[in-house]
Amino acid sequence: MIPLAIPNIGKLEGEYLKACIDENFVSSVGRFVTRFEDEVASISGTEHAAATGSGTQALHLALRALNVGPGDLVILPSFTFIGSANAISHCGAIPWLMDIEPKSWTLDPKCVAHALAKKTERQNGELIHTPSGRKVKAIMPVYTVGNIADMDAIGDIASKYGLKIVADAAAAIGAFYHGSPIGTIADLTAYSFNGNKTITSGGGGAVVGPNSALVKRVKHLSSTARVSQEYDHDEVGFNYRMTNLEAAVGCAQLQRLKEFIEAKRRIRIRYNKLADKLAWVQPFPQPCGRDGVSWFSGFVIKDARLPKVSEICSRLKDQKIEARGFWKPVHMQLPYSETPREVLDVTEGLWSHIITLPCSTSLTDDDQQRVIDVLEPMLTIDAF
Ligand SMILES: Cc1ncc(COP(=O)(O)O)c(C=O)c1O
Repeated sequence: MIPLAIPNIGKLEGEYLKACIDENFVSSVGRFVTRFEDEVASISGTEHAAATGSGTQALHLALRALNVGPGDLVILPSFTFIGSANAISHCGAIPWLMDIEPKSWTLDPKCVAHALAKKTERQNGELIHTPSGRKVKAIMPVYTVGNIADMDAIGDIASKYGLKIVADAAAAIGAFYHGSPIGTIADLTAYSFNGNKTITSGGGGAVVGPNSALVKRVKHLSSTARVSQEYDHDEVGFNYRMTNLEAAVGCAQLQRLKEFIEAKRRIRIRYNKLADKLAWVQPFPQPCGRDGVSWFSGFVIKDARLPKVSEICSRLKDQKIEARGFWKPVHMQLPYSETPREVLDVTEGLWSHIITLPCSTSLTDDDQQRVIDVLEPMLTIDAF
């Protein structure tokens, strides 16, 4: 089977894991955690990073550190992995779902500006969502498949309305925006390092940001808000730390980050060439001027003359190739059936037409060619 997106683990990961065991540092303190945090910060253009047990934990802590609390609203694109919405819910807050730009699949600033202008007003210094009476606290853009959102426009809106920005950069480690690393363009930025990401620590996440005090607060919250070795804790914290074992794997993976990003880019380019050939199939978007990374790759298949995504996936499976659809939007998920939302036309017209194709960094040219050779006849309209 040619898998969709699997980890690319080498010898170094084993050596670093053995070092943890030999040194008897297997838990949440250790030199690999410190090193992982330093390296993630440096890649992100920030002073500090706080490593966590998952991307969802990273987002949850980022929101908490920015004082998002029970009953608050956080603006979120509906087109995202459910973990983004869950992190908001874990704060007791509620996602306010908005649409995406077709050219990037990221939060559409025009929708955000329109919704805020129409549906909010200032009351006693707070921004209130007039239909529900709830406070609007933050915007959470998602860097979908590694595409950076239009952060200039989103930043302007956040400043105008006094909102914080937590960027969900789950799959965007190593990306740039206007030529600079992405860690300073939001108040806090969260990564995921789970197994299907460009680099993995087994499971894990991290928070970075331009304000070191805030990142340190995330670290504090992740470590049960402990203030001394004498079991003193100054608030209700979380046990959300990355372990030294996970960080050891993460450090080994980071040494190959550039290579992995380049491999993903090449994979995307090869699929795009097939999309160019088949005019009725669209490539994944890559907005110009935003120097993202190519996490997942695949096509948008909207032409009614072509088989449905589920049918293509099952035919590929018969040929021992793993392919899948992509995120079912948050507003279509049971736990979020009542959550406030704006018009979601782009999201609704897009999600079920996306097919994600094998794009592991270990995918060989021959294997990708096999995927393309098997796929091409399925995506060819005979009449042409
Ligand atoms: C956009 C997005 N947000 C959040 C997450 C959650 O990360 P994790 O699975 O590490 O909790 C993911 C992970 O797949 C993701 O793709």
